[in-house]
Amino acid sequence: MNLEGGKLETALTDDELGSDPTLSFGTWFEEAKNAGIHEPNAMCLATSSPDGTPSARMVLLHSFDQRGFVWYTNYESRKASEIELNPKAALVFYWQSLNRSVRIEGSVVRITSEESDAYFNSRPLDSKLGAWTSRQSRPIPDRKALEDALATTRLRFLGTATTNEGETLIPRPQFWGGYRLIPQRIEFWKSRPARLHDRLSYSRDQSSSTWTKSRLQP
Ligand SMILES: Cc1cc2nc3c(=O)[nH]c(=O)nc-3n(C[C@H](O)[C@H](O)[C@H](O)COP(=O)(O)O)c2cc1C
Repeated sequence: MNLEGGKLETALTDDELGSDPTLSFGTWFEEAKNAGIHEPNAMCLATSSPDGTPSARMVLLHSFDQRGFVWYTNYESRKASEIELNPKAALVFYWQSLNRSVRIEGSVVRITSEESDAYFNSRPLDSKLGAWTSRQSRPIPDRKALEDALATTRLRFLGTATTNEGETLIPRPQFWGGYRLIPQRIEFWKSRPARLHDRLSYSRDQSSSTWTKSRLQP
């Protein structure tokens, strides 16, 4: 079996992507959604500790606009602890069936509590209870301890109710919310024959906020 198979993309021309890479990201993201890719918003988030030790994990992109790329997580998790001490991070998307990838690097800030509240309130009951239950990244003796903790959370917020009537009463935990990566660099990658892949990289000038585009060797 050829593990490196798949259709090769047409060329990524210099004109194909405009002067604003966040708009181009939007175009590619729509194309990934339209291609039927499962969870096209899944992205690898890389952070690092202050001593430079990297760590990476998958998270889901919640939203993006000119300000940056937003995901939600536990503010006491390993990734959050690293971000709080070293607010530089990187994201990677890989849309395998399109033979495309996007890399994004920049600084990370917490989104406002109003934004986090709005999203938390829109989430299903189980997700709210899960957010309250998990002390993300911390050890737990076994699976049962986690399920017991969920039962305790359920009892705390819903009492003995068996319906979802208490759902709207569950507030957002202060230790859960969103982060926004403000991009400094965005690269678009397309697979091409003979491994001569196309790479268009945009860097943002710190002072003027304008983007400079360059083509990189594969
Ligand atoms: C496809 C996928 C999507 C995920 N999305 C999220 C997410 O949006 N937020 C999150 O906190 N964890 C998400 N996770 C779990 C993380 O990968 C990770 O296990 C967790 O955040 C703890 O990471 P940390 O200990 O490095 O902080 C996701 C995992 C997968 C495989």
